[in-house]
Amino acid sequence: MKTVFQSPVDPEFVQNPYPFYDQARACGDLVYWEDYGKIAAVSHRAVSALLKDRRFGREVPEEMRTPGPAHLAPWLAVEAHSLLEAEPPRHTRLRALVMRAFTSRAISALEPSFHDLTHSLIDAFPDQPFDLLSTFCTQVPVITICRLLGVPEDMSPSLLRWSHDMVAMYQASRTPETETAAAASSQAFTDFLIDYIEQRRSDPQDDLITRLIVAEEDGEKLSREELVATCILLLNAGHEATVHSLGNGVKTVLQNGIGPQYFAPDTIDRTVEEILRYDPPLHMFTRYAYEDIDAFGHSFKRGDEVALLLGAANRDPAIWSDPGRFDPTRAIVTNTSFGGGLHFCVGAPLARMEIRLALSTLFDRYPNLRLSAEPEYSNTYHFHGLTKLMVQI
Ligand code: HEM
Repeated sequence: MKTVFQSPVDPEFVQNPYPFYDQARACGDLVYWEDYGKIAAVSHRAVSALLKDRRFGREVPEEMRTPGPAHLAPWLAVEAHSLLEAEPPRHTRLRALVMRAFTSRAISALEPSFHDLTHSLIDAFPDQPFDLLSTFCTQVPVITICRLLGVPEDMSPSLLRWSHDMVAMYQASRTPETETAAAASSQAFTDFLIDYIEQRRSDPQDDLITRLIVAEEDGEKLSREELVATCILLLNAGHEATVHSLGNGVKTVLQNGIGPQYFAPDTIDRTVEEILRYDPPLHMFTRYAYEDIDAFGHSFKRGDEVALLLGAANRDPAIWSDPGRFDPTRAIVTNTSFGGGLHFCVGAPLARMEIRLALSTLFDRYPNLRLSAEPEYSNTYHFHGLTKLMVQI
């Protein structure tokens, strides 16, 4: 296996990680990424296969678990009960409860209010030029996930702050300050939810939080800690990636001169899939080997970690011809932006609906939208999203 060198905080890499992915993929399915001290899967076939291979998983193997530093306790407590960090049978139980709320019926039911939301955000666009990321791309997913869970929409500024502080723990630019902020925000988020759940217990509604409360009262299904961790996961995962799919998508569309015909009912699905393939918001997830496994020419030992580079898999020329070209007319081939296998994104249908409706409304109202400044990505690998998106009409 070849060793590759690339700092994940190098400004050039942060702005455009794809040349590095191409070089790494040319070395084989797996490379050793020296800066992470980890093996990385870079081809589409390796990333897809390892996502689905049940001999690998996200939960830390038992013999490797440590209590973690005391100053991180509130953040670790949420992680410990998160479905994203669990494997069966815990994962199966938690995921089944959450999936009940993500039926296609529940998502279609959101569509009328979603329509009103996008129009009212567009009506309120400030004087030009303005930042589309904060005024539109951020607001759409955070308000939608608040509505789905049944959390007051006026909580969204706090939710955004807590969420950003918590997910910064996964970023290569993490510092001691990141840890302090993540612990404080985890505590504040947990305290808010404990209070809010108590209020809602006496005022049940037709929403996800009420259904999860019922499952918690039923003791067997959900503990109090799991209830809080599940709400936090849904609220955080429910907007972080969608914000940047919208931002990266609008940037790509404007830079490539893609016309409004690609947002029509018969073309939009391909456009959305190409947006997700071409410049996804999340680039890397890791797995532990749970046994000794031979895969793609490497012998993994139990406990070995492997990084799955979703952004690299999506640009694999073995699957997509001329993968560095944005082409909204491509036939849809499943990309890896939502992961795969057991942890496949619960919110994928919701996210697709949001991107489809938000972009078609935006380009319908403003077909002449254009960039007013060169957008820049933030230094937050493995997240891949813009700092702002200045546009004018
Ligand atoms: C374009 C937007 C989104 C992208 C690109 C995305 C991507 C992903 C990926 C790659 C994973 C799997 C991680 C892994 O395998 O290690 C995942 C899991 C998850 N996502 Fe999303 N996501 C998006 C939107 C959403 C939304 C709107 C929700 C709504 C609540 C959501 C909820 C979740 C949850 C709960 C999991 C954990 C599933 C499990 O562990 O079984 N995501 N997402």
